[in-house]
Amino acid sequence: MKVARVTLSDRAAAGVYADASGPEIERVVAAQFAEPLEGTRVLLADDRAALEAELRRLADVERCPLIVTTGGTGPSARDITPEATRAVLEKELPGFGEVMRMQSYAKVKTAILSRATAGVRGQSLIVNLPGRPTAIAECLPLLVPAIAEALDHIAGFRPALRPPA
Ligand code: MTE
Repeated sequence: MKVARVTLSDRAAAGVYADASGPEIERVVAAQFAEPLEGTRVLLADDRAALEAELRRLADVERCPLIVTTGGTGPSARDITPEATRAVLEKELPGFGEVMRMQSYAKVKTAILSRATAGVRGQSLIVNLPGRPTAIAECLPLLVPAIAEALDHIAGFRPALRPPA
């Protein structure tokens, strides 16, 4: 299964620090899916036009069934991930963001600052995650059953999942 992970971070893209969030997506995806995975890695500054173009390319040209973004979902002026994502979606799936916020809120009261969303473009599912690696570890596993079901509906295959540890 082709999985693209896209990190949005001005500072990681400028080399100020290493991107820890993209590798965390890979770790969680490998732990959750039993499918052989083929990964595409993207690191971008928080730039709306660049993200829209990249999401279109990953969906329409690379035909990745699953595209996971991290970062840029908060309230700051440079946080544009949900806007760029909505601009390329054909159908929004707001439940992904709702569950992340609801489940994370029990642990971290600032979870409601994330505006993360998800949805469908063609045969691709695009899912936003917050930027912190701990947020990825908390949120992504919650979404995996719905990701598998959504791929069955939109891409015509249901990825095999590993049994819970
Ligand atoms: N969700 C979880 N589970 N854990 C977190 O630490 N951080 C919050 C929120 N969601 C957080 C979280 C904070 S402080 C912010 S500002 C928003 O995600 C947006 O983060 P982002 O702009 O890096 O996407």
